[in-house]
Amino acid sequence: MNATTEFMDLLQVKYPILQAPMAGVATPAMAAAVSNAGGLGALGLCAASPEMAHKAIKEVQQLTAASFNVNFFCHEKPARDPVVEAAWIARAVPLFERFEAEPPTELRDIYKSFCDTDAYLHLLLALRPRVVSFHLGLPRPDQIAALRAAGLVLIGSATSPAEARAVQAAGLNAIVAQGWEAGGHRGVFDPTAPDACLSTRDLLRAILDEVSLPIIAAGGIMDGRDVRRMLDHGAAAVQLGTAFIGCPESAADEGYRERLALGGDTVMTRAISGRPARCLGNALTQWTEDAEPADIPGYPCAYDLAKTVNTVAKAKGATAYGAQWAGSQASRARSLPAAELVETLATEMTDRAQA
Ligand SMILES: Cc1cc2nc3c(=O)[nH]c(=O)nc-3n(C[C@H](O)[C@H](O)[C@H](O)COP(=O)(O)O)c2cc1C
Repeated sequence: MNATTEFMDLLQVKYPILQAPMAGVATPAMAAAVSNAGGLGALGLCAASPEMAHKAIKEVQQLTAASFNVNFFCHEKPARDPVVEAAWIARAVPLFERFEAEPPTELRDIYKSFCDTDAYLHLLLALRPRVVSFHLGLPRPDQIAALRAAGLVLIGSATSPAEARAVQAAGLNAIVAQGWEAGGHRGVFDPTAPDACLSTRDLLRAILDEVSLPIIAAGGIMDGRDVRRMLDHGAAAVQLGTAFIGCPESAADEGYRERLALGGDTVMTRAISGRPARCLGNALTQWTEDAEPADIPGYPCAYDLAKTVNTVAKAKGATAYGAQWAGSQASRARSLPAAELVETLATEMTDRAQA
């Protein structure tokens, strides 16, 4: 059995195609459609309260008996600096004036890390989705032990060989190799450490040399030929995010869909959320483009402000202020129903193999 077949057996899927867990974009309907079509659907729950996470997982379970993945962030506690935060709010005052809204008086630490509470752990142990994945770091060792003892398949993401070694040493079952092309948050464990910015292919090659776990390639994969290429290079499976943003099941709003359809540039920036993430270039990225790293509050406090800016802008009909996360290959995105996209990817992947 090769690495792909073995890994598909572990995940209990027909195709080695994973839909990326995308907070704010992936929905229970999307996850279930992907899983019912033979891929691995996913929910990104980093922004969900335990109650919201419980509801979303239950909803997927009502829509599919197939396996799916639920995803959490394991980020550090933000270093709070009142001077930096006040200056960051002050910088946004002209935007609030433009949209005739009051700026906030302070920033909030809006998202909890999986490591900082056992509420998510308990609901996973109660609801038992087959697969759980982690981004921006790793859960605590006791949390990993409890999830493993419950028989859940655990995936950690890595942007470097060192992070991949850490995922393997922590006892998880597989690694997402997230390349520089990838949309959304870059999974770096320490956002202050140097980053070699490895492409998906270079990262895959480097990680394969160092770890024995199955590797899931992620970043810039848009069609079945890209999938085949990654499998040929040794990936056990692939994970696609941007390819699914335009699906009818996606929660992306009209402005996001219209911007995606325009294609064009994406930007890796930490100025939206406080951590590096890849986004379609828009009015929000322009507003933050000259920000120095030292000026930007930590994740997720900076994100609190960006979200408020988007809310007040949308209230006045301006749609270009959202965090429109997308990978560098966004201009190749298609807008197919999620199940059709999975079937198309699977067919294209096989056609290329037979060619
Ligand atoms: C809109 C969007 C939201 C994302 N949200 C998450 C998330 O909540 N958790 C996560 O692990 N990765 C998230 N990612 C990153 C994906 O897991 C994956 O690494 C990336 O989509 C792969 O690159 P691609 O977008 O070029 O396919 C997100 C990506 C996008 C595009």
